[in-house]
Amino acid sequence: MKYGYFDQSTREYVIDRIDVPVSWTNYIGVKELCGVFNHTAGGYLFYKSPEYHRITRFRPNGIPMDRPGHYVYVRDDDTGDYWTLSWQPVGKSLDKAKYVCRHGLSYIKYQCEYSGIWGQQTLFIPLDDPVEIWDVVLRNNSGKRRRLSVFGYTEFSFHHIQIDNQNFQMSLYASGSSYKDGIMELDLFYEDNGFQYFTADNTNDDASDFDCLRDAFIGQYRTETNPEAVERGSCSGSFELGGNHCGALRRVIELEPGAETRLIFLLGEGNRDAGKKMRSKYCAPGFSEVDTAFKTLGNFWKEKLEKLQINTPHDGMNVMLNIWTLYQAEINVIFSRFASFIEVGGRTGLGYRDTSQDAMMVPHSNPEKSRSRLVELLKGLTSDGYGLHLFSPEWFEKQTKAAFKSPTVVPLPPMSQRVHGISDACADDALWLIPSIVEYIRETGDFGFAEEKFTYADTYNPETNEGMSETVFDHMKRILDFSAREIGPHGICKGLRADWNDCLNLGGGESAMVSFLHHWALVHFCALGKRLGKDVSKYEEMTAKVRESCEHELWNGSWYTRGFTASGRGIGTPASKEGKVHMESNTWAVLSGAASHDHGIAAMDAVDQYLYTPYGLKLCDPAFSEPDDEVGFVTRVYKGLKENAAIFSHPNPWAWAAEAVLGRGNRAMKFYDALCPYNQNDKIEVRKAEPYMYCQFVAGPDHSAFGRAHHPFMTGSAGWSYFAATRFMLGIRPDFDSLVVDPCIPAEWPSFTVRRVWRNAVYNITVENPGKVSKGVKECKVNGQSVKCGKAGAEIPVQSKGSENQVTVIMG
Ligand code: NOJ
Repeated sequence: MKYGYFDQSTREYVIDRIDVPVSWTNYIGVKELCGVFNHTAGGYLFYKSPEYHRITRFRPNGIPMDRPGHYVYVRDDDTGDYWTLSWQPVGKSLDKAKYVCRHGLSYIKYQCEYSGIWGQQTLFIPLDDPVEIWDVVLRNNSGKRRRLSVFGYTEFSFHHIQIDNQNFQMSLYASGSSYKDGIMELDLFYEDNGFQYFTADNTNDDASDFDCLRDAFIGQYRTETNPEAVERGSCSGSFELGGNHCGALRRVIELEPGAETRLIFLLGEGNRDAGKKMRSKYCAPGFSEVDTAFKTLGNFWKEKLEKLQINTPHDGMNVMLNIWTLYQAEINVIFSRFASFIEVGGRTGLGYRDTSQDAMMVPHSNPEKSRSRLVELLKGLTSDGYGLHLFSPEWFEKQTKAAFKSPTVVPLPPMSQRVHGISDACADDALWLIPSIVEYIRETGDFGFAEEKFTYADTYNPETNEGMSETVFDHMKRILDFSAREIGPHGICKGLRADWNDCLNLGGGESAMVSFLHHWALVHFCALGKRLGKDVSKYEEMTAKVRESCEHELWNGSWYTRGFTASGRGIGTPASKEGKVHMESNTWAVLSGAASHDHGIAAMDAVDQYLYTPYGLKLCDPAFSEPDDEVGFVTRVYKGLKENAAIFSHPNPWAWAAEAVLGRGNRAMKFYDALCPYNQNDKIEVRKAEPYMYCQFVAGPDHSAFGRAHHPFMTGSAGWSYFAATRFMLGIRPDFDSLVVDPCIPAEWPSFTVRRVWRNAVYNITVENPGKVSKGVKECKVNGQSVKCGKAGAEIPVQSKGSENQVTVIMG
């Protein structure tokens, strides 16, 4: 069963059957003002922080599903009938109304055809103004003159998510609303500049009216489905100091047969004056600034996507990598997981491991953001070499003192609470930062970054804004030294609070995943060090030692053991009854370069044999059924859900990459295809979730809802899918001084092309596969000149800035 399709011409996912089983979401805003909305305009808007500066309210995980939102009601003033341009909240019968939702790149279009009126509400945020634009178009297809009232409606929040949900004897009296000059202003009284506005073009005409009070607009014993004001056909002009506020504006229009009209609503950050400014900019006759802003947003994404465009025999891969997977990866870097319908704003800041990985995925399309994330993470590193598991970058940055500490000002905990001890450290967190830094340098050629100095979190003095400061290269050393120090009796890295797997809590036990990650980080570090002309002999020795311990202690004769409990029990061994085979140890053994080829082949065969399902690879098998606190929380999660043998998406691309390292292109593609959301577009009765997004996990075969995908958008699967598919399967990888082409593809692919922009030059790469191989490059020409080809693929030297280069690669 399907509910929509991928529209390549517009780069949109089009939901043309609107009653999708769960919310299908999208994000708007790429800077400070941002929002997350579903297919029926439910969702919320925030400025900088969804926790402390929430603009509109959202009642998550409730019924009716995902309300309120940013709604446009249309009322027929002759009959009193009314509807919304998004299907919900009025929810007209789908026999009589046709609704479409077009999820685009940082915009959403809600379209509706009902009662002879075609309508469209586009939501987007211009790149450089903190204002959400609701661009509304209405066309009269009914053949008769129509008199309509159009209401824009949204419910304001009290900013701080906690204040918005508790202690109402306080919060209900903290904000006030007013209407003047056609602009409603919300004033959050205990903030210095706590204002928002809601306005529209032409609000000064006599026929317009407003409500600032939610309960006046909705009416008693009613919901957004049947607001009293809409039913009555007019707002009541309410406003008050205290209470629950909304932005509700009514516009009255008349449409001749065939006529079309356009209305603009603006919901923005700032006071009435800011609203006036935005109104005169965006609502000037012709709305040309709205069109320009929308076009600029389109170009913003086009430019990013054009950094890497592919054309392969695999339609799904083309659509996902050319548009949706990069988009998802970018959204993760921007939002850092803190805003969705799952994370509803009560937990913000940067997760060390997630952010490190996210930053690694987009240095080509977003070098500035990758870099700034890396810097934030470097400052969130302790001098012991472990990262702060969850922290706010502001903690380690110069503060401009807040004159008055209102409850919605982001609190700065005392230093003692900012820096946690080793008992709260996750063993993997900071290791991810090393490859991220190295990949950033490989992409950008910004070698100087390695020499820049930053402070350590535990040495930072907020009073002086100073602390012990060392180079990026030194930070990397401390991370590697920490992992070398924190090892258990087998010489394998300790699991500490957790490793990548939040639910594997090994404490004093040992984690194979972390040792392999240590190896991977060391390989990256040594390569960089050598390129910079540094002495890395200590770390080369460390690499050899880690490899030896891994092979000796973790290879169990059949595959790679996942770890050891504090009492020395093996996890993920042939003798284990539950949790016998795990993704993390086997994929990382190969990916890290620590495993021998033969062991790698056997390990990945075990992955295929034990973990493969038609919806992707399970995280482990068999699922745990008995609580076992030495292993961790994973044993207390239902079978087939989350980390307990679900198809956890994030590690799936590790398996594609591992197979590519081993040269098995068909196997890599088999795994890619199983997880690929595009391939499930017509299986929504099973998948339920969006087919344009990877989800955190898909229920595994042990669960009654096998195949159901959960938690879309905000997941490391996005970046990793992009990374593994482009760098390992298609094999286009930047190195310090060359662009490497080293594909591992299904043997039957005759050819594919890639357009890659790297260090300001264009590389039009055609890969031919006449011998039907999966891996191996025998010839490569750049602009007709042969370049070096070896076991590691073709090496294309950096071409001059601004050049456009033709590259032909022959596999064999
Ligand atoms: C989600 C967390 O955000 C991520 O850090 C973790 O690696 C995965 N869960 C797996 O447990």
